[in-house]
Amino acid sequence: MTEHTFIPETYSKTINNGSYTWSSPSNIALVKYWGKKESQIPENPSVSFTLDYCKTTTKLSFSKKDSNDDFSFEVLLDGEQKEDFKPKIETFFKRIERYLPFLKEYHFKIETSNTFPHSSGIASSASGMSALAVCLMSIERELNEQISDEFFNKKASFLARLGSGSACRSIEGDLIVWGAHEDIEGSSNFFGIKYPFEVHKNFKNYQDTILLVDKGEKQVSSTVGHNLMHDHPYATQRFAQAHDNLSKLISVFQNGDLNAFVKIVESEALTLHAMMMTSMPYFILMKPNTLEIINKIWLYRTNNDSNICFTLDAGANVHVLYPENEKDNVLEFIKNELVGFCQNGHYICDQIGFGANQIQ
Ligand code: DP6
Repeated sequence: MTEHTFIPETYSKTINNGSYTWSSPSNIALVKYWGKKESQIPENPSVSFTLDYCKTTTKLSFSKKDSNDDFSFEVLLDGEQKEDFKPKIETFFKRIERYLPFLKEYHFKIETSNTFPHSSGIASSASGMSALAVCLMSIERELNEQISDEFFNKKASFLARLGSGSACRSIEGDLIVWGAHEDIEGSSNFFGIKYPFEVHKNFKNYQDTILLVDKGEKQVSSTVGHNLMHDHPYATQRFAQAHDNLSKLISVFQNGDLNAFVKIVESEALTLHAMMMTSMPYFILMKPNTLEIINKIWLYRTNNDSNICFTLDAGANVHVLYPENEKDNVLEFIKNELVGFCQNGHYICDQIGFGANQIQ
């Protein structure tokens, strides 16, 4: 399958106006995407749990306009105009225009809101861009009713990737692979696919409690961050390691070996941060409280024979991952021992989810 698959033939139908509303979740990578080539092609494959609670809801209203010269859109977050969101959406529209030739024919009103606070340090690009991508696909499906559900999801993921790489892993759930991997048939650099093999019951309803250590703006934007992997002294090794970790996870998902799962997931998180610490320029994105939390998690795991583990994004917040059968104990532990390290005691309870949902 190539990019050409997603260039539509001329639509037989025309529509003057309408609106669609979708919600789409965030996701948390187990094997991390860090480093990309031209056109949002990842340097290595990644795999993620789709989340359930952390999501963006977007209403996309569209009306035919007179001239087709430029993109025309407005963006509102929680009812307020957001001029600073516009450049990213303009870039997104430019990248996807080939695949959605109707884009310049309409004026769009994009009304969006998140279940998590905007300034929580939780990236809203995955949920935001995937929500916008599915709304746009709804318009395309109205223009061409032949589109199957499978194609709809694939193209939505393809478009979401062009908005933000990790967004292509949010269309479906509960485990998504993005990036070509030799052991995973159907895996692609162009879109995310549902993990195609057996998954042990140990991973059912896996929990993710997000500890908000630092709610500030991202210290390193994802564009700057991914670029750090160009000419990085350890890049080749790192990309090979991601392939290897994904191969190892295939048997872990099958046999439910949580011990092995914990090792791969934590090593991936620390490697991501190690890449940032060893790039030029270099960054330390963990905060003292991030390390306090990691040490407490390790102690709790040993003392309680637990399978709790952590993962990190490109920031200081900690995602605490654990099986559903440990939920009560771990939440007690978080309340008693970890909340003190969170900014204003703030944390978010989430779990594995199943992707985007149409609301209207
Ligand atoms: C550390 O998807 O935000 O969260 O493609 O530039 O929008 P862009 O990057 P983005 O990068 C996410 C990186 C990560 C790891 C991951 O989610 O795999």
